[in-house]
Amino acid sequence: MTSIKKIPHTIHIIEYASSDDLPHEDADLLLSAREITEHAYAPYSNFKVGAVARLSNGAIVSGTNQENASYPVGICAERVLLSSASSQHPGIAINTIAVSYSSASVKEYVPVSPCGICRQTLVEYQQRFKQHIKLILSGQNGKVHIIENAADLLPFAFESGNLT
Ligand code: THU
Repeated sequence: MTSIKKIPHTIHIIEYASSDDLPHEDADLLLSAREITEHAYAPYSNFKVGAVARLSNGAIVSGTNQENASYPVGICAERVLLSSASSQHPGIAINTIAVSYSSASVKEYVPVSPCGICRQTLVEYQQRFKQHIKLILSGQNGKVHIIENAADLLPFAFESGNLT
């Protein structure tokens, strides 16, 4: 007899109408992410992304996207941040990451979420430190999305355990 199961997968995104409604710590981190977008090197896309993390020891680490004339060489803000955090504060988990962006061509800011490669990198980071990373996503203004566990963005992820 054939047995087929449909396995549902649900994720919860908490939406705030504006950063004014966030708890102070989160609002501060998001403000830093909004500001740091100006440090991006994005002459090809003109889409500047800023990511700022609060680590479990209270340290703050940031990253911005860095592009290249050879387009695939460019690296996203989230992975610049994760590489920095891991290098500057080895062994220290990340509690929260705020991600923002700025672009002259955007008419109305909506939260954007990390690309696929960054999601894979976030999943491995969480696995290494055995701790969920909370994401705060928002443009320069407007709605804010909170994702309590970054791994929710990559269901059925390929992980180190799959290699054994
Ligand atoms: N980018 C990021 O830095 N993070 C994301 O989550 C999405 C995209 C960058 C890559 C590229 O420099 C520009 O945004 C346009 O894709």
